[in-house]
Amino acid sequence: MKGRGRIRRIGVLTGGGDAPGLNAVLRAVVRSARSEGWTVLGSRDGFDGFIRMDRKGGDSGVVTLDSGSVRGILHRGGSILGCSNRANPFAYPTIRAGKTSYPDVSRRLVRNIRTLGIDALVLIGGDGTMNMADRLMKMGVEKIVGVPKTIDNDLSCTDRTFGFATAVETAAWAIDAIQSTAAAHDRIMIVEVMGRNAGWIALEAGVAGAADVILIPEIPYRVDAVVAHVRHRARLGITHTVIVVSEGAHRTGGKVSTIARGRKGHLPRLGGAGERLKQELERSVRDHEIRVTVLGHIQRGGSPCSCDRILGTRFGHHAVDLLHRGAFGQMVALHGTRIGSCTIADAIGNPNLVDPACDTVLAARAVGTSFGD
Ligand code: F6P
Repeated sequence: MKGRGRIRRIGVLTGGGDAPGLNAVLRAVVRSARSEGWTVLGSRDGFDGFIRMDRKGGDSGVVTLDSGSVRGILHRGGSILGCSNRANPFAYPTIRAGKTSYPDVSRRLVRNIRTLGIDALVLIGGDGTMNMADRLMKMGVEKIVGVPKTIDNDLSCTDRTFGFATAVETAAWAIDAIQSTAAAHDRIMIVEVMGRNAGWIALEAGVAGAADVILIPEIPYRVDAVVAHVRHRARLGITHTVIVVSEGAHRTGGKVSTIARGRKGHLPRLGGAGERLKQELERSVRDHEIRVTVLGHIQRGGSPCSCDRILGTRFGHHAVDLLHRGAFGQMVALHGTRIGSCTIADAIGNPNLVDPACDTVLAARAVGTSFGD
């Protein structure tokens, strides 16, 4: 994995949570690599397959991928390799005598990768996987390229991650459905969407679904401003309101709502922003019923939309091209309409958040959307 020696065999994995388009990337990586004459080994469940491959008992966790293995998968959600956001080689959950500890098994991972004769790696993942890529490169596993995946669209140095477009489609479809039931019952309907600390899904799905209020982490909200918007609509004779709230949204000076602490090396689980907002609004709004819909993992599941199938295919092909050219330590990226790359080091640590002054926010405000500020 050191130096510029010829590549004969590559490893690939889908790290972290799933996102629509993973199979499109895998298909493009495998077929492009086969065209180069390379063998492709896939690790099941993120890094887990490469870590557990030397465990006795049969399941090696590693699978050879050829053109046939990726036939008929372009339109399928999930990942044919499986995903895991627990398989962190630097804090690997291990249960012994009923107790969970999180040892660093990264040396074992590196040893296994060498034993398999893998010359280079394509790591498909989000911020967590790119951080692990950076640490592995510092351990001497130098021939790595990254492919940016996440429905949250929160990775730096790329204008888009694959998976995001499908999540927005799904959320916008749900907001459309909520609109008619909100109007039928004169209700305030709150739709909570994913995105962690980035408001991209809420912003884009909210605009696409004509939400009346969009609450995102980058623009802390005031409850009285949301109430004022509901009253303003009532004065116009509109008796229902659809509010899209990002799971990471919070009041000015308030905290992000979490439902579980992060275990060692893992992020906390966000959730509850919609229910909390309902309780905040109920103190002032007595003439409307309020209901909350949490979209949850349906935003991650299902068939990828065309945009993600195309972006995934372009990303996967470019990842192999980077390896072919010896451009290691790079993450594939979308810059405008063109595929390029940036260093993995630049892509991590500085999340891509919504600029509150971006043109999408300004356009939404111009058509009457409130951001609760
Ligand atoms: O990062 C993708 C994401 O779907 C976030 O939007 C969400 O907060 C988190 O993953 C949910 O993770 P899990 O699948 O572990 O519940």
